[in-house]
Amino acid sequence: SRTPVNVTVTGGAGQIGYALLFRIASGQLLGPDVPVNLRLLEITPALPAAQGTAMELNDGAFPLLGSVDITDDPNVAFDGTNVALLVGARPRTKGMERGDLLEANGGIFKPQGKAINDHAADDIKVLVVGNPANTNALIAQAAAPDVPAERFTAMTRLDHNRALSQLSAKTGTPVSEIRRLTIWGNHSATQYPDIFHAEVAGKNAAATVNDETWLADDFIPTVAKRGAAIIEARGASSAASAASAAIDHVHTWVNGTAAGDWTSMGIPSDGSYGVPEGLISSFPVTCSGGSYEIVQGLEVNDFSRARIDASVKELAEEREAVRALGLI
Ligand code: NAI
Repeated sequence: SRTPVNVTVTGGAGQIGYALLFRIASGQLLGPDVPVNLRLLEITPALPAAQGTAMELNDGAFPLLGSVDITDDPNVAFDGTNVALLVGARPRTKGMERGDLLEANGGIFKPQGKAINDHAADDIKVLVVGNPANTNALIAQAAAPDVPAERFTAMTRLDHNRALSQLSAKTGTPVSEIRRLTIWGNHSATQYPDIFHAEVAGKNAAATVNDETWLADDFIPTVAKRGAAIIEARGASSAASAASAAIDHVHTWVNGTAAGDWTSMGIPSDGSYGVPEGLISSFPVTCSGGSYEIVQGLEVNDFSRARIDASVKELAEEREAVRALGLI
């Protein structure tokens, strides 16, 4: 039988953790034939709650689940880790300035990046879900100089999936027949969901929709503000859909994109499409053999250029802010 893959989840006692861990244990993260050992990293006061989740994981009697370990020590949590899902983060609370938010998260992601650097397995892959996800990923990556930078990624797959769902509803086409959609930029309200290269049932999506007003005033803001709409409706932030997107992100990274399709991932820029090198920004990517590549050569029209630039500008400002705080 195969060697188990060590998967570490931070914030395992939180609401995304609760929706995520059982799907990992059932084999949906990596594949139906890959055994996993789970490590949950939590803050000390949340260890009892994490223990409760671990009891339920054991009660699931998952054939692929080797072990579940819980710790509040990042050096233990990331020892030999192959896949790290960094979900736990410091949320913005009322009256909190951006600088305070970045500093509080720096206090989480910098030590976690260092622990990954010092203890994780050579093939470590990192997905940052905790917000501000792109900049938290940048902080962790900067603290891990011995790990190839491209192993640090941020989640924009939930935005990608939300865009698929909206386009599906607008065109009356199942999501399974929509390809090549792209989220560009930051996982924030400035993100840009791009349908100009997307295909709906084999036809260009923008041409099929043929409604720039819908695109600018309905589709883009609906996708970008979906998180707030979920909070408004549910009284709590998106959790199951976020967990599902995290599963999708890692599954695609490890197992590849379908021929002729691509996905969206927040990844360190190599300068493609005018995005400054090193910023962790969302791009269209194909995955194969456990690595990813930015889709090259897409034409970017003026409508898209302005929106990509605005989101990238926000990322550059976040990078300047964490630099000024000495976090990178
Ligand atoms: P939650 O508050 O229910 O759970 C967060 C958990 O993280 C808590 O159990 C907390 O104790 C733990 N935690 C805090 N600091 C930690 C540390 N230093 N080490 C380990 N664990 C720590 O929050 P929820 O709903 O699970 O969301 C988690 C994060 O995911 C939030 O930052 C949220 O904004 C973000 N998110 C990102 C999305 C994306 O698309 N990228 C979508 C939805 C949520």
